[in-house]
Amino acid sequence: MDPREIRHVLGHFATGVTIVTTKDKAGVPTGITANAFSSLSLNPPLVLVCIDKKANCYECFEDSGVFAVNLLGEHQEQLANRFATKGIEKFQDTAWHMSANGIPLLDQTIGYIECSVTQGYEGGDHTIYLGEIIHAEAAGDRPLLFYKGKYQRLPEEG
Ligand SMILES: Cc1cc2nc3c(=O)[nH]c(=O)nc-3n(C[C@H](O)[C@H](O)[C@H](O)COP(=O)(O)O)c2cc1C
Repeated sequence: MDPREIRHVLGHFATGVTIVTTKDKAGVPTGITANAFSSLSLNPPLVLVCIDKKANCYECFEDSGVFAVNLLGEHQEQLANRFATKGIEKFQDTAWHMSANGIPLLDQTIGYIECSVTQGYEGGDHTIYLGEIIHAEAAGDRPLLFYKGKYQRLPEEG
C-alpha cells in the first residue's frame, strides 16, 4: 500500500497527545511529542510508547532506564509543536521540574505517568518501550486531541 494512504487511514484513529520525557547520561532532560502511547496492563501496571529510532532522544530510553508520559491539555498545542521539532533547545522557555524519582516532568499538563523501562521490542523503524508505572497523577482537565493530522479539542459541554 502507498504510505500516504496508510497515513490517511491511520489518521482516522483519534488519540490524545503526549510529550514523552527522559534524560541523557548526564541527566539533561530530553523529550518528544508522541501519540503512539497506550495503556497495556494493570497487574503489573504497564504502558507502552513507540519511539522513532531516528529521534535524538532515542538512546536516552536505554541509557536512563526511565521515562515519563506527560498528557497534554487543550491549551498546549504550542508545546506539542515545540517537542515535535528537531534541532531546537526544547526545554529552554519550557516550565518543567525534576520529579522525586529523577524524571523530568513538564508543568501545567493534565497528568503524567512516570515509568521505569522494563523492555524494548523491535517495531520496524520504531522501538516499542514498555514502562512499569512508578507514579502517576491526573488533574482531570480537558485534553489536546490529534485526529486526521490536526490538533483538535473536545466540543464544549452543554
Ligand atoms: C502529533 C504527533 C505525534 C507524534 N507521535 C510520535 C510517536 O508516537 N513516536 C515518535 O517517535 N515520534 C512521534 N512524532 C514525531 C516526533 O515528535 C518528532 O519526530 C520529533 O521531532 C522528534 O524529536 P527529536 O528527534 O528531536 O528527539 C509525533 C509528532 C506529532 C506532531
